[in-house]
Amino acid sequence: MNITARYFIVPLLLLAGLAVAAPDAGNLEALRGKLPLDRDPAPARIADPLKDQGIQDRDYIHQPPLIPHQVRDYEVDLKVNQCLSCHGWKNAASRNAPRVSPTHYENRDGLTLSDISPRRYFCLQCHVPQTGAEPLVDSTFMPVESLR
Ligand code: HEC
Ligand code: HEC
Repeated sequence: MNITARYFIVPLLLLAGLAVAAPDAGNLEALRGKLPLDRDPAPARIADPLKDQGIQDRDYIHQPPLIPHQVRDYEVDLKVNQCLSCHGWKNAASRNAPRVSPTHYENRDGLTLSDISPRRYFCLQCHVPQTGAEPLVDSTFMPVESLR
């Protein structure tokens, strides 16, 4: 798409989206319910994370695998990435942990770097630990046949 076309088509699509969404706006209910913005709902209690559950099945091919262990106090910041102290290629074997796959070393241009790619540095952006909590929203998602 050339630049001029993009200038016209993108705003047009946005406007079209607004026109469709507008009639329902009054019925929208966020997870905080219909409380006015100046009041806070009672804080939800976050259920305790489940302890070691062993490697979990994946529901679709490119799913970031679920974290099967607790992550409390595992530091990930500018200087330290504790996840990599077990999952990085250097330590994984000695820690008996699965190593991150090669995709974690690729930058956005598909080049393989010698260290973890910046876009894969913050592990919890994609990988999540599990709790025994009820789902907040129902889902009818089913894995494809080959993964069931
Ligand atoms: C002390 C070592 C250690 C640390 C630190 C650690 N892990 Fe793990 N992790 C493991 C081991 C061991 C397993 C395999 C569990 C099993 O086989 O039951 C695992 C499994 C996983 C898996 C599942 C992989 C799969 O193929 O299903 C993910 C995802 C994961 N860890 C992410 C993380 C993230 C994110 C962090 C940091 C917040 C982290 N881990 C920190 C040792 C560690
Ligand atoms: C942008 C999302 C994203 C981030 C950030 C990310 N991962 Fe992953 N991870 C994935 C996806 C998607 C997969 C499965 C497909 C693949 O291997 O690329 C995966 C796979 C894995 C696996 C299983 C590898 C295998 O071969 O089965 C481990 C272990 C893992 N990640 C750990 C980590 C750790 C540790 C970090 C932080 C240093 C991290 N990931 C950051 C998306 C992410």
